[in-house]
Amino acid sequence: MYLPPDCQAIQMALPQRRQRLSELIDIPVVLWSGRYSPRNFPANTYPFRASSHFLYFAGLPLENAAIRLEGERLELFLDEAPAGNALWHGEMPQPSDIAEWIGADGVFPHTELEARAQGAATVRVQHPETQAQQVRILQRSVPAPPQSTGIDRALVEAIVTLRLTHDQGGLAELRKAGAVTVAAHKAGMAATQIASLEAGVRGTMEGVILSHNMTCSYNSIVTVHGEVLHNEQYCHPLQPGNLLLADVGAETPLGWAADVTRTWPVSGQFSPTQREIYQIVLAAHDACIEQIKSGVEYQEIHLLGARVIAAGLVDLGILRGAVEDLVEQDAHALFFPHGIGHVLGLDVHDMEDLGDLAGYAAGRRRSQRFGLKFLRLNRPLKAGMLVTIEPGFYQVPGILNDSKNRDRYHNLVNWERLDQFSDVRGIRIEDDVWVTETGTEVLTRDLPTQLEEIETLINHR
Ligand code: GLY
Ligand code: MN
Repeated sequence: MYLPPDCQAIQMALPQRRQRLSELIDIPVVLWSGRYSPRNFPANTYPFRASSHFLYFAGLPLENAAIRLEGERLELFLDEAPAGNALWHGEMPQPSDIAEWIGADGVFPHTELEARAQGAATVRVQHPETQAQQVRILQRSVPAPPQSTGIDRALVEAIVTLRLTHDQGGLAELRKAGAVTVAAHKAGMAATQIASLEAGVRGTMEGVILSHNMTCSYNSIVTVHGEVLHNEQYCHPLQPGNLLLADVGAETPLGWAADVTRTWPVSGQFSPTQREIYQIVLAAHDACIEQIKSGVEYQEIHLLGARVIAAGLVDLGILRGAVEDLVEQDAHALFFPHGIGHVLGLDVHDMEDLGDLAGYAAGRRRSQRFGLKFLRLNRPLKAGMLVTIEPGFYQVPGILNDSKNRDRYHNLVNWERLDQFSDVRGIRIEDDVWVTETGTEVLTRDLPTQLEEIETLINHR
């Protein structure tokens, strides 16, 4: 843990975040940061990632720490590093210095937490041993957040209210993550013609992120098999004629994420069929962003994307029928089976540890419809939210060869015409879109989406 040099915006945001929490909930709150997880033996660990709810109120990625919030008061529970620790890990800042940075009113060793935590609300963390610690210290069960009840449920609802929109501190970090992500994608495009495997492009992209002292905000997807939505294999050769789909995002040292996808031709030039489909996905991307502003229902944006894709596929002769009917029957979902996007912040799918409590407005439930069930966000948009817009087109064998789909959509799909697009396995175009009262600011707009600009970036090394 170190104190990053350029994080004053977060430091300045902390008091107001805690004050707003105290206005929403009048019970004490204890939040744990979590700990390192062992990889193969305890001293060899996965990189540490602090709980996002802790990060939101404490600002810093402190390992094995807890905070207690009550009214305007913040107490930090953090032990001094054990004697001998510095030999292997260097000198750590003193707990009192950290307490001063985050504006704590007091700093205590962990042994004092149990006495101070009784009656407090909390959110269960991901780290298993810390979960057990939460139960032991609070002397009660701490279910996963979608099942939270009582004071924990009240806390979750307050956190959702706060974290759904971003303050200036969060926005400053999100801009940094977006800028480094744009640089990573440009470097990935420029590296494509000298890489032989997907792994070569991945390495270049992640190298840019690491060289800015950031990490990846999720496991990178860099694949010529874009039809596998969360493909985490990087072993395939890059061959002329392939499209490479790269869904790669940076995370700042304080935990704020970007999430961007581009799809480009390995050869440096889209084929005529790839161009046709790319233009449809891009039209959906642009139309959705165009319609976003405070007050608009995100599900309407999803359905708009679905209509633009369906209309494009009708024009190409792949789908048959009236666009509204096709979307009503979820025919677009044969090719665009996921949602148009999600909220983004400290988590790439922000607050997804809360199930759908953040993504879905109170009283709304996931639809079981093929074309809606993977929609992660279904609430009216509000100024200050950051959402992704990520339409796509995929030829997923498991969907297109499913005999039930073949029967159901027999007359709506021209399967022979579709065969002519076999060099398009998967295309996705994704940007990070800041919602304002009157429209949007695309935080990742410096990364081109136009075909010709992308071809130029690939070909100009
Ligand atoms: N970046 C992966 C996703 O949004 O699911
Ligand atoms: Mn995404």
